[in-house]
Amino acid sequence: MFESINITREIIGNGASLLLCCNGAGELPPELAAYEGKVQCVYVDPPFMTGGTFARRRRFGQKGWKTGSPAPEYPAYDDRFPNREAYLAFLRGVLSNAQKLLSPTGVLCLHLDWRASAYARILCDEIFGEDRFLNEVIWAYESGGRAKRHFSRKHDVILLYAKTRKYRFDLTKVPLQRSAARRNHMRRQVDENGRAYRSIRSGGKEYRYYDDTPVYPGDVWTDISHLQQRDPERSGYATQKPLKLLDRLLRPVVQEGDIVYDLCCGSGTALVAAQTLGCRVIGMDMSPEAVLISRSRLKLQNVTVDAPCDGIAALEASYTPGEGALLLTDFRANHKAFPKTERAFDALECWSAGYLEDGRMVTLQHFHRSPKHQELPLMCILPENLPNLAVQTVDAAGRKSVFVWKE
Ligand SMILES: C[S@@+](CC[C@H](N)C(=O)[O-])C[C@H]1O[C@@H](n2cnc3c(N)ncnc32)[C@H](O)[C@@H]1O
Repeated sequence: MFESINITREIIGNGASLLLCCNGAGELPPELAAYEGKVQCVYVDPPFMTGGTFARRRRFGQKGWKTGSPAPEYPAYDDRFPNREAYLAFLRGVLSNAQKLLSPTGVLCLHLDWRASAYARILCDEIFGEDRFLNEVIWAYESGGRAKRHFSRKHDVILLYAKTRKYRFDLTKVPLQRSAARRNHMRRQVDENGRAYRSIRSGGKEYRYYDDTPVYPGDVWTDISHLQQRDPERSGYATQKPLKLLDRLLRPVVQEGDIVYDLCCGSGTALVAAQTLGCRVIGMDMSPEAVLISRSRLKLQNVTVDAPCDGIAALEASYTPGEGALLLTDFRANHKAFPKTERAFDALECWSAGYLEDGRMVTLQHFHRSPKHQELPLMCILPENLPNLAVQTVDAAGRKSVFVWKE
């Protein structure tokens, strides 16, 4: 029989990457002291001071994951601050933490829009130093509604600041194809070897720009669109950023083995991009659901996850200790947004099996639904006679429960 217990911390593999549910603007948890001065890139995409609340859509059950529907909506996060001072106090907390964590070669990327970017620039000048400013990247897009009383506001602002003058930045890591990047007035010609180029004469000299040599992005990016409604990358989390954007920001700054930190990680886009580049990641968000969505988007070889447990689900399963066979037989969780279903396991989005040790759950196997794997396996084989066998579940509304096996 499985009994519900309250365990927040989960360790997978060596637990080297971290996902923590906490306030990125407040005092950081003591365990993060070890990372002060060690982080190569801090990306922060905080609330933008929109005054709104944001939702997330999660696909529900096997059918939802297969066809995209049902996909009920749940609250995600609140972007309402009592006034600008309160917002700037929050931002100051985030930026001070970022400054502490960055290594001497490290770079901050702060993602905002027209509402707060001017104030943030002044705050960054104060905290990092005016002479540490690297860029104000304009990410322009076309999606969303159109204004009638002023020009449509169609760009975000990403401020880049270096921790010290020794910062690392290798622009050659983000080449663009010249022909796609530049269509200009220069006449296109072909040389004696058949290579296409454009040329210009200046001061009696000819300058040739071959189509097959790369160019590098400037600070206005118009070639990365917002995620479309049906984009397979979409996690359902509102304000999710495209991986391509994060890849372009991180690639010049990080190398394999570096640490990338996101203090407001949401669905974990920066963490996924960093992991793809071979980095260790530390993600933090106030919202437990954000932490659990990030968990399900990351490769989970070596991660520690700390997210509260609300323990409202019920699990039935059979376990044969001598064989190590664990079979889930029933799962119950309710939410007013859950669609009606006959299949109890539709309310289960992911689960892990392992054991309890020192008040933490050590995960040995984990399963989650994805566009590719809509059906959840309900059985796994664990080491025989595992003491303190435990199962962690995340329901379709993103709430975590942990159960321990009692003979
Ligand atoms: C714009 S979203 C981040 C989206 C993310 N970049 C993505 O691609 O999914 C902002 C996030 O900041 C989180 N947040 C708000 N206040 C926070 C705080 N004080 N500490 C940590 N996270 C916070 C919200 O829960 C939300 O997930």
